[in-house]
Amino acid sequence: MDERRRALFRDWMRRLFLAVGMTGIMAGPVTAGFTEGELLSGACGGCHGHTGVSRAASMPSIAGFDRRYLARVMREFSTGVRYSTIMGRVMKGYTPQQINLLASYYADQSWENFPAGPRDPALFVTGQRLHQALCEECHEQGGRYQDRDMPRVAGQAPDYLLMQLFARRDRPEGMQQPARMRRALEGLSDHELRALGHYIASQD
Ligand code: HEC
Ligand code: HEC
Repeated sequence: MDERRRALFRDWMRRLFLAVGMTGIMAGPVTAGFTEGELLSGACGGCHGHTGVSRAASMPSIAGFDRRYLARVMREFSTGVRYSTIMGRVMKGYTPQQINLLASYYADQSWENFPAGPRDPALFVTGQRLHQALCEECHEQGGRYQDRDMPRVAGQAPDYLLMQLFARRDRPEGMQQPARMRRALEGLSDHELRALGHYIASQD
């Protein structure tokens, strides 16, 4: 290495250490191919899976959701206005900037369906009928549709889906959901919620 290249290399190393030392404060791309959002996501992967594709039936996948949905939901967890078992505690202390970086990181990842278990034909048909009558107007394409207000539900982790459906029916006060969804869930039996969960989770 000649003197000039050695100097450039030293300068690059200095910047690298500076940048790594400042993660959590600085925005934007950091080093060695890691963006800051990716570094922050290290705190989430144990539950949501590496890149946000969950491997646990009770943990939601979050890969590929709309960035604005992700950012809103994280803000709601961090301020405590959104019902949660865990996320309220997890998101405490994250700055709005870190929340935006995390939201952008997960929005850029690719969704993968949770591997569906064996299909129960009778339960599936009941779920399909209910979904078409009550849910499809918003959760279009069997729940594959998503936008800034609404996550994809098709192929989501099955126990998480059930947990959400029961919580949204039984404790609707603390839940963020449109009045039409709340009304749709009211009066559904446990069996009907299971059928809906089974149908939605079984989508490809
Ligand atoms: C200890 C496990 C755990 C960790 C760590 C964790 N989460 Fe979660 N996350 C959950 C659970 C469980 C839920 C469902 C809400 C609840 O009950 O808390 C959830 C829900 C979410 C949701 C909403 C999903 C949806 O479909 O609406 C987002 C977004 C999210 N987490 C992002 C994150 C991010 C970003 C991190 C890292 C900073 C993180 N989570 C760390 C367990 C975890
Ligand atoms: C009027 C539109 C609308 C209708 C009708 C509706 N939903 Fe939703 N749903 C939403 C929106 C918007 C959200 C996201 C709300 C939030 O958490 O901020 C949501 C959230 C959900 C979630 C939670 C997803 C997650 O990742 O946390 C599930 C599960 C769900 N809906 C299932 C259903 C089912 C099943 C039906 C029919 C019985 C239904 N919804 C009817 C609009 C609707």
